[in-house]
Amino acid sequence: MTHRLAVLISGNGTNLQAIIDSIEAGQLPASIAVVLSNKTTAAGLQRAIRAGIATITLNKENYPDRAAFDQAMIAELDQFQPDTIVLAGFMRILSPAFVHHYSGRLINIHPSLLPRHKGLHTHLHAIEAGDTEHGCSVHFVSDELDGGPIIARAQVPVLANDNEETLSNRVQAREYELYPRVLEWRAAGRLTLDPRGVQLDGQPIPADGFDLDQLPAGLTTAPAGPRRS
Ligand code: GAR
Repeated sequence: MTHRLAVLISGNGTNLQAIIDSIEAGQLPASIAVVLSNKTTAAGLQRAIRAGIATITLNKENYPDRAAFDQAMIAELDQFQPDTIVLAGFMRILSPAFVHHYSGRLINIHPSLLPRHKGLHTHLHAIEAGDTEHGCSVHFVSDELDGGPIIARAQVPVLANDNEETLSNRVQAREYELYPRVLEWRAAGRLTLDPRGVQLDGQPIPADGFDLDQLPAGLTTAPAGPRRS
C-alpha cells in the first residue's frame, strides 16, 4: 500500500510544495492523504487544493485549551489513517498526548543544524552567534520543543554579508531537498524509531543524523524535482 502522509502547516507551505512536487515527479512513492492547517489564511492550503489534496483547518478559538485542540486534530487526522505525520512549518507547540499518540510516526523540519538554535529566528541567531555553518534538520518529534532524535541535516555556509532573509532563502532551498529525501526512506519502510533510537534498515544511524551531502551508498536517489515558487 502507498505510504500515506498527513502534512501539517501554518503558513506558506513551500515545504509542502516540495513534497507534492517530489511525489508528482515520481521520486517519492507516497501520497498526501490530507493537509491540516491551524490558520485559515495559510497559503499552503491553496497549494494542497491545487494538487487535489483534502484539507482541514482547525481554529484554536473553537477549543478551550491545547489538549482539546490536539484531540480534535487526532480525531481528524486518524480518519485518514496516516503512516507519517509531517510537520512542515506547523507553528504550534504540540501536547504530550499528541506526540505520544503519533510516537515514531511524527517528523518535523527545523531551520537550523539541531541541536543548535531551537525555537524561532534561527537564521538571525546563527548570524549573531558568528556561525560559519547553518542549515536545516529533520527529526522525529519528542515532547521537547524542536527536540527528538535527528534523522538528517543539510548544511549551508553563512556568508559575511548575509542577513536573515538571504540566509533563510539558502536554508529553505536545502529544506526542499532534505525533506522529500527523508520521506523516501520512510515511504520505503526503512526508517523507524524504536527505544534504541533512529534505525535505518534496522541499524542505528549516526548520533547527529545523516549529512545530506555525505549520504552513504543506498540512500541517494535522483535529484530533487521541479523548482517551486
Ligand atoms: C520552514 O523553514 C521550516 O523549517 C520552519 O518553518 C518554515 C516553513 O516554511 N519550521 C520551523 O521553524 C519549526 N520550528 P513553509 O511553510 O514555506 O514550508
